[in-house]
Amino acid sequence: MKLYNIKSKSSAISYAGVLEKVEILSSTLRWAAQLERPEIEKLLGQCNSLRDEVMQLSHKERFIQASSARANKKNASEAERRQALVDRSFVFEGVFGANPKLLESLEVAEKAAPTDLPVLIEGESGTGKELMAKVIHANGSRADGPYISVNCGAIPDSLLESELFGHKKGAFTGATGDRRGKFESAHGGTIFLDELGELPLPSQVKLLRVLQSNEIQRVGSDELIEVDARVVAATNRNLRQLSAQGAFREDLFYRLSVIQVTLPPLRERRDEIQLLNEFFCDEAAERLHRAPIRMSARLLRFLERYDYPGNIRELRNIIYRLSCLAADTADLEHLPDDLRPVAGAAAPAGATGAAAIAGASLAERKKAASDQAERDFLESGLRETGGKVAELARRIDMNRSHLQTLLKKHAIRSRDFRAGAKT
Ligand SMILES: Nc1ncnc2c1ncn2[C@@H]1O[C@H](COP(=O)(O)OP(=O)(O)OP(=O)(O)O)[C@@H](O)[C@H]1O
Ligand SMILES: [Mg+2]
Repeated sequence: MKLYNIKSKSSAISYAGVLEKVEILSSTLRWAAQLERPEIEKLLGQCNSLRDEVMQLSHKERFIQASSARANKKNASEAERRQALVDRSFVFEGVFGANPKLLESLEVAEKAAPTDLPVLIEGESGTGKELMAKVIHANGSRADGPYISVNCGAIPDSLLESELFGHKKGAFTGATGDRRGKFESAHGGTIFLDELGELPLPSQVKLLRVLQSNEIQRVGSDELIEVDARVVAATNRNLRQLSAQGAFREDLFYRLSVIQVTLPPLRERRDEIQLLNEFFCDEAAERLHRAPIRMSARLLRFLERYDYPGNIRELRNIIYRLSCLAADTADLEHLPDDLRPVAGAAAPAGATGAAAIAGASLAERKKAASDQAERDFLESGLRETGGKVAELARRIDMNRSHLQTLLKKHAIRSRDFRAGAKT
């Protein structure tokens, strides 16, 4: 008897996906003449994983309701807008919050989802671009089709085209067999092109051709293969500026940005921090098999005022760290080292009052000031060298890998200083 392989489905959880699995499982049971022990074991395993998925969905659902309730208190129109999405059976995929800018993005996504138009999602790192791509997929007519994600910045240039379009056996050294690419895998569904700004120019030309013709050619093959994949792309760089400078093809930019969704950074939606904080505390507690942590008042105040350069992902990481390190109540001392001094530093606008909150000692303040000086030095160096790390290392006579470590410590990305980077 053929059993449905639940694990082979996309990892994004949605009500539609879970319902489909339940249907398949029950029809398997309905038509089974008799079951052998290994088949029963497999079905039990599938039931367990379905139960886990339903638990996760109901967990998310609880917070989605909390988002609406909170918006209700704040501003009737935000609550109404969020509730209207819920009433129209919008699938949130775990996106919380009722900040006006976020609602605007969700409303655009809702309208774009059922169409096949390309969507370009813009936003700083960690603002939820990938999550938004899943929202667009889950609310569209292709929700039951595949959702394939490709990180254009993480694949070496030499392999990118084979990864996207596949290759023919013998096309290059190491191509030992025919292989289909991500576009073919996304046939009937959605392909998510993450970090689109990192796509090299030659691949941009090929991508444009695919978008115009809906046909791909595997590397090393002349055969044209028809593909029907809806393209959603994301970037944290300013593609308009990049195209003006010739680093990104203008025609591709216009083709992909028919609909643009811009996600606000967390520091522009501080009203959501508390809700996200509670959600991640719950999620971390579940993952770490512990009770949700409590937080001291000064830690809470710090978390509400901190600027989050890494946005929601950074908040999530902080909460996981706190949940791992704190016994019962988390406090400032459980924050990462490189964050604590910032709390103690005489702080920029967003963090006003953080120094007092941190109650930092003289030694801590000295360290914070020295960290700040180090950061300013690195940033002005990168500005002068146009984001070239090797050049900066040479100018300041520092070992390059040590310089990389320092940049990492301060979460400074050299590419943000290159020509055309978003400021
Ligand atoms: N509105 C939101 N509600 C709840 N969780 C969110 C929200 N936005 C983002 N997250 C969570 O924050 C984390 C980062 O999101 P995601 O990976 O989608 O960001 P990204 O913009 O693609 O980041 P990067 O540019 O670094 O790739 C994920 O764990 C995601 O689930
Ligand atoms: Mg991403």
